[in-house]
Amino acid sequence: MKSIKEVQNLKNKKVLTRVDFNVPIGDGGIIDKKNDWRIKAALPTIQYLLKKEAKIILISHFGRPETKLEIASPRLVSLGRRIWNLEYSLKSVAKRLEELLDYKIKFVSDCIGNKAKSAVEKMQVGEIILFENLRFYNEEEKNDKDFAKKLANVADIYINDAFSVSHRAHASVSAITKFLPSYAGLLLEKEIRILSGAIDNPERPATIIIGGAKAKTKLLVIKNLLNKFDHIIVGGIVANVILKAKGIDIGKSMLDGIDPEEVKKINLTDKKLHIPIDAIGCNTVKKKIELSAVGDIGDYKILDIGPESRELYLNIIKKSKTIIWNGPMGKFENDNFADGTKAVSEAVTNLKSYKIIGGGDTIAALNKFGCLEKVDYICTGGGAMLKFLSGEKLPGIRALK
Ligand code: 3PG
Repeated sequence: MKSIKEVQNLKNKKVLTRVDFNVPIGDGGIIDKKNDWRIKAALPTIQYLLKKEAKIILISHFGRPETKLEIASPRLVSLGRRIWNLEYSLKSVAKRLEELLDYKIKFVSDCIGNKAKSAVEKMQVGEIILFENLRFYNEEEKNDKDFAKKLANVADIYINDAFSVSHRAHASVSAITKFLPSYAGLLLEKEIRILSGAIDNPERPATIIIGGAKAKTKLLVIKNLLNKFDHIIVGGIVANVILKAKGIDIGKSMLDGIDPEEVKKINLTDKKLHIPIDAIGCNTVKKKIELSAVGDIGDYKILDIGPESRELYLNIIKKSKTIIWNGPMGKFENDNFADGTKAVSEAVTNLKSYKIIGGGDTIAALNKFGCLEKVDYICTGGGAMLKFLSGEKLPGIRALK
């Protein structure tokens, strides 16, 4: 994988830079300052390119516009072959980027075609353009070669600086590398370096905390890291799935459609794997209840780890020298079921040890408990981080090789 630092002369070069500006949309479509960490993470590469006097063309996706198309909205605009939902326009991101960078950003309301082409033709050295949401075109998610070629047409060089979308074989991260000399941006390099270092050479004891949903992907992470890490702590739906596979009654708890037989491929008796021993749950009328031991819970569903599990987990966390965390311990958005995630958030962030966190829910939890500032490294990737930790080769990274 070649680094952008290897390019001798970037002066006057049109550099198509794939970033991930997929951030939560705040009230009134304004980007919430608490949730702009992905935009901030992209700044070093942009500043590097500015210093090198390149012409910077930023491209990104924003949300999943297509899935919302059936919702009636005054902001649906028909352009060309597709209906664009302007709630997913990157225009609001351009504003936030301008504030963060303290630099003029020209927003262009398309990413291919005449509008894009003529905007780039008029560019001066040191100018920054942000193109409209790539996912306004179906072709992006289909890894369509013609679409990639159209994107590439306006530029001299391509940079992938979007680790967090590199697990998707999409046109702007995969097919595009066929049409332009392609390099890794500073953020992509940094994320790979930090995650690889934590997996292959962590300071020990090394602990990974896995919770929340997306159980299928997270089970692959557990399988890959069980022999590399000293402790794996589980919570959330991932824990439910493991409890069920061990033959423990989890009542009406969520399972993410996982077949317990699949889970048995993991060595569930491994002493390094820590599962909840008690839980907080609720019944069908949402009455909160403490389940002194997991198992035999009838109609209840588990929504948080219990006090004894908390104690067990905190003891492990406190002794750890490396922590990776992806996924909350329970339904922390509801205060009745937030104690487990809160305790883990505080224990992790009060440690001096090296801590890496990732995943939108984990970041939201740390924000809620006022702990986010104390994390050493926030990985921009949720799904991408999990795929990387499970040992999978990400298509966006493979395409740069
Ligand atoms: C993310 O939010 O994890 C990335 O931006 C990728 O978005 P996606 O899951 O919609 O592909």
